[in-house]
Amino acid sequence: MRSKINQAWIDHWLGLGNVVELSCPTVTPYAVLEASGHVGEFSDFMTQCGSCQEASRADSLLEAHHPNPDALKRDELQSLLEAEKPPCPACGMTDWSEILAQNLMFNTTIGAGASGRPGFLRPETAQGMFTSFNALYRHFRERLPFGAMQVGKGYRNEIAPRQGMIRLREFNMAELEYFIDPESPADDDLSAWDTVSFALVPDGKKPVEMTLEVACQQGVIRHATVARFMGITYDFLAKVGIDMNRVRFRQHESDEMAHYAMDCWDAEIEGSFGWIECVGIAHRGCYDLESHEKATGKSLRARREFDEPRTTLVDAWTIDGATAGPAFKALAGQVKATVEGLPKSTTFPATVALENGETVVIEPEHVKPNQRTLKETGEWYIPHVVEPAFGIDRIIWHVLDHAYAEQEKNGEAYTVMQLAPAVAPVDIAVFPLFEKEGMDDAAAKIHQRLCGRPGTVSMYDGSGSIGRRYARADEIGVPQCITVDHQTLQDGTVTLRERDTGEQVRVPMDSL
Ligand code: ATP
Ligand code: GLY
Repeated sequence: MRSKINQAWIDHWLGLGNVVELSCPTVTPYAVLEASGHVGEFSDFMTQCGSCQEASRADSLLEAHHPNPDALKRDELQSLLEAEKPPCPACGMTDWSEILAQNLMFNTTIGAGASGRPGFLRPETAQGMFTSFNALYRHFRERLPFGAMQVGKGYRNEIAPRQGMIRLREFNMAELEYFIDPESPADDDLSAWDTVSFALVPDGKKPVEMTLEVACQQGVIRHATVARFMGITYDFLAKVGIDMNRVRFRQHESDEMAHYAMDCWDAEIEGSFGWIECVGIAHRGCYDLESHEKATGKSLRARREFDEPRTTLVDAWTIDGATAGPAFKALAGQVKATVEGLPKSTTFPATVALENGETVVIEPEHVKPNQRTLKETGEWYIPHVVEPAFGIDRIIWHVLDHAYAEQEKNGEAYTVMQLAPAVAPVDIAVFPLFEKEGMDDAAAKIHQRLCGRPGTVSMYDGSGSIGRRYARADEIGVPQCITVDHQTLQDGTVTLRERDTGEQVRVPMDSL
């Protein structure tokens, strides 16, 4: 089922037409996650029970006492914890330690012995896609927008993983990093969702229902690419069988946002645990590429060409070759480049650092004013990123939650998993009415032929009564069942039964 959802996710986003799938390492060097801000910022607030030592997330303990404790600062959480004294979920006592920020990454060492270097298991798949930016840029012939997507494990040392598949320490993520030029108008077409009313909860405002187009026009959603990705997310959740009456999009409060985000909308799904964030659609601005550029000194930029070449007057300094040449000898070239980058307001003597790291003192006689016109046909800029990040486990859990139905049949409780055919782990079940007189051979043959079709998962079941076998198939959500009976042996027809209607039709075996 997970494979099907992962594949459905990839196929769905491939529809954008300008995205590729990557597979990056899960073990990540310290420097990458230090540059990305995760070493300093990726933490939750923890408090420990003074009685049983159980650790809890401070915001989770205070959910009944604040509409969105995730958005509170440490001191605010501390005051609320002291005022409300919530009971420990493990022992019921109310004696809490001081709240501390707990980094959520798992540490590891990359390499052995003295050459071992610190690293982490990745907390998101995204960073590998940012550090691959230059390869992606070349692949896409240096034209934006384009995207990279990745399905794989993420690891977070969650403080209190108490809700089964909702909060795991090792979980399955599916993320797309979509690189855009912030100065090109986002010409995202939202007309595909003209008839869909989205349940939106904008930051600090009342919930509203409106189309994406209207939400953009009214400034409720600030960026058209974010809006389009909300639409594509909506379609994906519908495709995998989520009840779309139980989906809403909630905008993060500014204090709740991850350290890298300028704006973020979560797709929340309602199920037995209440409303749970299953997808985060974040506008990450230029945060990540800029951070990696600063940390490595390597350019992570795209070029935009101007419609018309631009001419600017540069009023600054250059070196006086007659004096600077003999003074700096082999370094004269580097000194020239550095001096030409200094503002006109610089006073000399000035101490400057050269490209090779050396420091030199420039005297007044080494320089002269330099006025020149600069003609530029384009410029290098840091792209912005819009990122839909899906938690696959949380989606699977809600698919199961929404598909689960209890019915009554012949006075008995009867369970059906009404899974969408796109995600049902078994596509079709084949039963011989009895495992004798050749019915078993005929059913096995049909099963084998179905198994030979790429992507089809067929299940043969000859055990127990036929009613019991239908019930077992319904219970795991098999959309269709085929039964071979006495008549099959005479005229080559079988019965085909639909899970959701229970309807049975007779069809020739060869037309299956
Ligand atoms: P939460 O506030 O619930 O901890 P988050 O805001 O930290 O979640 P993100 O950082 O936005 O979550 O992660 C992207 C997606 O990954 C989430 O929408 C969610 O579906 C999923 N996810 C995050 N943490 C976990 C986890 N511990 N177990 C399972 N899925 C998770
Ligand atoms: N990459 C987004 C997240 O981990 O939340």
